[in-house]
Amino acid sequence: MSIDFSGNNAPLVEEEPLVTTSLTREDENEYSLRPKTLKEYIGQEKAKGNLEVFIQAAKMRQEPLDHVLLHGPPGLGKTTLSGIIANEMGVNVRITSGPAIEKAGDLAALLTNLNENDILFVDEIHRLNRSVEEVLYPAMEDFAIDIIIGKGPSANSIRLDLPKFTLIGATTRAGQLSAPLRDRFGVTLRLELYTPEELALIVTRSAGILDALIEREGAMEIARRSRGTPRIANRMLRRVRDFAQVVGDGVINKELADKALTALEVDYLGLDNIDRRMLRAIIEYYSGGPVGLETLAATINEESVTLEDVYEPYLLQIGFLTRTPRGRCVTPKAYQHLGIAVPGGIPPVMDQLTF
Ligand code: ADE
Repeated sequence: MSIDFSGNNAPLVEEEPLVTTSLTREDENEYSLRPKTLKEYIGQEKAKGNLEVFIQAAKMRQEPLDHVLLHGPPGLGKTTLSGIIANEMGVNVRITSGPAIEKAGDLAALLTNLNENDILFVDEIHRLNRSVEEVLYPAMEDFAIDIIIGKGPSANSIRLDLPKFTLIGATTRAGQLSAPLRDRFGVTLRLELYTPEELALIVTRSAGILDALIEREGAMEIARRSRGTPRIANRMLRRVRDFAQVVGDGVINKELADKALTALEVDYLGLDNIDRRMLRAIIEYYSGGPVGLETLAATINEESVTLEDVYEPYLLQIGFLTRTPRGRCVTPKAYQHLGIAVPGGIPPVMDQLTF
């Protein structure tokens, strides 16, 4: 199997904040941490179990795997999973993204360069433009593209056959996919946030690959603070390892992990400054909500897509935020975490460090 990133000219985030779930330069260099087989891949049991069956069936029939749509919050391993699928199928994967494919011709070039049964992975597939998307329909359905030759009344369309291939589309926003595109995926898998126990296993595995010494409670501390996301967990592991090397004895234990992550302003639940600003703004300016996403984003000067894709999933999961038809609301649990009195008089509990 080979992984080809040449189709991916989407910009990477240059700075390395701890909580962003977009790929940073450091993540790009860390392929060594990525599992290569389904067996090595921790968590996502439902998606993994289904995939195992579909891969085995496709291999038995000697056919390419049906097109797969992976959706869920960022940083949960959609690209990793596409590499694993390619590896398990014994084919190559070419990796690109929706915004990187600007013109129909760009997609035609990618498709015509595939080998039989190869995988084309398109990240952020909801960001494909219309004209590109229309090339994808016959490609997915009939393994062919229609090329228009000439202009005006003398224009002619010729059909070009493609090798059989598998499209793996990844998106944080399945709802934004057009119905015709969504309907052309034979397999749709939703990735869920990981449990702290699963993340602790991932952190321990990664520490082994990085030759970092880690205690079980140290791994658990990083896991609890990584908001359900392996990408964040692995990034935290590297930063905590730096602290262990410089201010500790090289071993990552609970105390060291706590010290390092507190210094990085990640609280004991994994919330960072933006989470706290978001919750405080709803409480202080909108009496706990409801408040619309755009209004909230403007209040704290952040982009609404970042709040919705990166911050909200975890705040919803831990029960700090609810989404109502009229907007976002903060729950009593969030008031308590921030040490703010809950309206109605439940006393605040400052149960750990807050910032
Ligand atoms: N590294 C990142 N995600 C992983 C996963 N799901 N399993 C094992 N290692 C990982």
